Amino acid sequence: MKLFIAILFLAGNLSAANPLPPEQVNTLIGALGRLDPALVNSNPALKERLGQVLDAVRGEARSVALIKKFQVEGRELDLLAVAVKHPNDPAGVEAMGMVLAGDGKKVVIDLLIGKDAQQATAVAKALGNSNNPSVIPMLAPLVVDATLHANVRKEAVKGLANYEAGAKHLLSLAKDGKLPQNVKFTASLALSTVRWPPIKAEAAKVLPSPFGANAKPLPPVADLAKHKGDIAKGAKIYMREAVQCARCHKVGDAGIEVGPALTEIGDKLPKEELYAAILDPSAGISFGYEAWLVTMKDGNAAFGIIESETDDEISVKGPTGAVTKHAKANIKSRAQQPVSLMPPGLHLTMKEAELVDLVEYLSSLKKK
Ligand code: HEC
Repeated sequence: MKLFIAILFLAGNLSAANPLPPEQVNTLIGALGRLDPALVNSNPALKERLGQVLDAVRGEARSVALIKKFQVEGRELDLLAVAVKHPNDPAGVEAMGMVLAGDGKKVVIDLLIGKDAQQATAVAKALGNSNNPSVIPMLAPLVVDATLHANVRKEAVKGLANYEAGAKHLLSLAKDGKLPQNVKFTASLALSTVRWPPIKAEAAKVLPSPFGANAKPLPPVADLAKHKGDIAKGAKIYMREAVQCARCHKVGDAGIEVGPALTEIGDKLPKEELYAAILDPSAGISFGYEAWLVTMKDGNAAFGIIESETDDEISVKGPTGAVTKHAKANIKSRAQQPVSLMPPGLHLTMKEAELVDLVEYLSSLKKK
């Protein structure tokens, strides 16, 4: 019965308010979900309703499935709005993929070099997370464009480092002395944690980490574990951008969840093992957090944790927390990686005393 009424709404036999009230939007989306796209697209009244629904849910994750199902054209800005708002969400990543697959590239480039730097930064971030190497030529010019806001250029650097060809591009800019001064630190950091050993090794020479270069070798872990650190200082180091822990771990509600939550890690691991987890992440990889490399038939690849899997699709969560979905029919191979998704060498971004503070903080994280 409900479906019947919804179809009447859709066909315009019952009047719909403009803009649509939220309950009506929900009913209409439910009804549209059951209708054949060919039917809707060939019926002007139904098509108009679809347009009204899309206007009502502009920028929302649920708009993506509708645009996809009905192959709606001219909604690039709407899709981008989702990609920018939800860069780490499957709907956001999918929206970006749809924009890049269609005629949306021009819209994207205009936004990247446009006057609104905040918007441009968000678009650059979404591109970097899109797992789509076709973004490399869009991001590369931003890095060296001195007219752009520093944040846009930094986000472009981080995004490029997510792709092997992009990381190589950054490296060659650095080698040729063409990498602008204000993105060197970001590039050094991003390249120090990439998953391609040759690039990483070369980056360490060309763009040495500002801290790592002077770091003394650490004393043995057993000695380190005897030191007492400062919990409050450790908490600040944990949040520091260069150290990146919060980029991949939640403590309570704060942070992004790529690796396991550390909210009660002090109960789980003694100090020695906390040091080991930071100094040599690949030594003991937590169950369920193994990294995989999924290679697609078109040559694209996704690297990350397999977050979920159905009969025809798998979801891969990458090192930035962005989740991409891949149809199994398009997958050529998948291989478990011997390395952790957690990059080694994070301790090189801090002084020895700071590492001690960080571990003191981690070991204070216990069940309340
Ligand atoms: C790019 C993502 C990433 C970053 C950055 C990262 N981690 Fe991790 N971390 C992981 C993943 C994934 C695992 C689980 C796999 C493993 O055990 O290696 C993990 C595991 C751990 C563990 C073991 C957890 C357990 O339950 O056994 C600890 C402790 C830890 N990380 C601490 C840190 C600290 C401290 C930092 C910052 C210095 C950090 N991580 C930065 C992704 C990350």
